[in-house]
Parts: sequence; structure tokens; C-alpha cells
Amino acid sequence: MEETLVLVKPDGVARGLTGEIIARFERRGLQIAGLKMLRLSRAQAEKHYEEHTGKPFFAGLVDFITSGPLVAMVVRGESAVKVVRSMMGATNPVEAAPGTIRGEFALAMSRNVIHGSDSVQSAKREISLFFGEHEVLK
Ligand code: TYD
Ligand code: MG
Repeated sequence: MEETLVLVKPDGVARGLTGEIIARFERRGLQIAGLKMLRLSRAQAEKHYEEHTGKPFFAGLVDFITSGPLVAMVVRGESAVKVVRSMMGATNPVEAAPGTIRGEFALAMSRNVIHGSDSVQSAKREISLFFGEHEVLK
């Protein structure tokens, strides 16, 4: 079993897409093992996206991810990292396959609705930034 970190980004929360996104994971057979709503500080956002430090889109990304409440969840299941990434669709929603979350609900890279960890190692790091040990179901 794997665990991955999913964020419904501030655009997704504001547009009322949280329930739809959770329902998709549940219907797929994945378990929601942790769930919370919060607004990130700039320091938290910079840490979450530290791999992108210095890139041209970094400041805009931090502005966006801190612009309003987001929903964070730990999604657990067989190959959860890969399955969630495939359900999300490509980073650039213009390239995202129809039927994926970005392919159905987004058009702009700067407002692409959802985050999912890109590897098991990233997932471990990202989950620990958002959830304490006792906030994730055993
Ligand atoms: P990245 O980790 O490459 O994508 P993903 O979210 O699919 O893992 O990038 C993080 C976020 O940064 C991405 O969701 C949207 C934003 N971004 C841009 O705004 N412009 C870009 O050129 C890239 C690569 C990402
Ligand atoms: Mg990424």
C-alpha cells in the first residue's frame, strides 16, 4: 500500500470541486486516510514547493497556493502515487486527457485545481508537512 498527498488547490475549493474530487478517489477504491482544510503561510508553501525554488513561476505559484483555503488529504491504496497522478492529468491542463481531473475542470497551468505527490519519496516528505502522525488513520 502507498500513500500520497493530494491538495485541492484554492481555485478548486472556491469552485466547489472538493466533493467531486474526493468522490473520484473513493469510487476508484482509494481510501481517504487523512483530511483537513487550511490556508498555507508563505513559508509552508515555499517548503512544500521547494523543488521549484528559483524557477520563473515560483513566486506566482506561492501567491496562488496561499491565496485561499485548500483541502489537504492523504490518499492510500495500491500504487496510490501513480494512480492519483494519472487521475489528475497533465500539469498543463491544455494537454490533460479528457476524463482526468485537470482535463475536465481546468484550462490554465496557473490554476490547475489539484496537486498530487510525484513519487513515494515526495509523498512521505509532503505528508509530514501537512499531517501529524496522529492525524492519519492507521
Ligand atoms: P510541477 O510539480 O511541475 O507540476 P505538478 O503539479 O503536475 O506536479 O509544478 C508545480 C505547479 O507549478 C504546477 O501544478 C503548476 C505550476 N507551474 C507553472 O505555473 N508553470 C510551469 O511552467 C510549471 C512547470 C508548473
Ligand atoms: Mg509536482
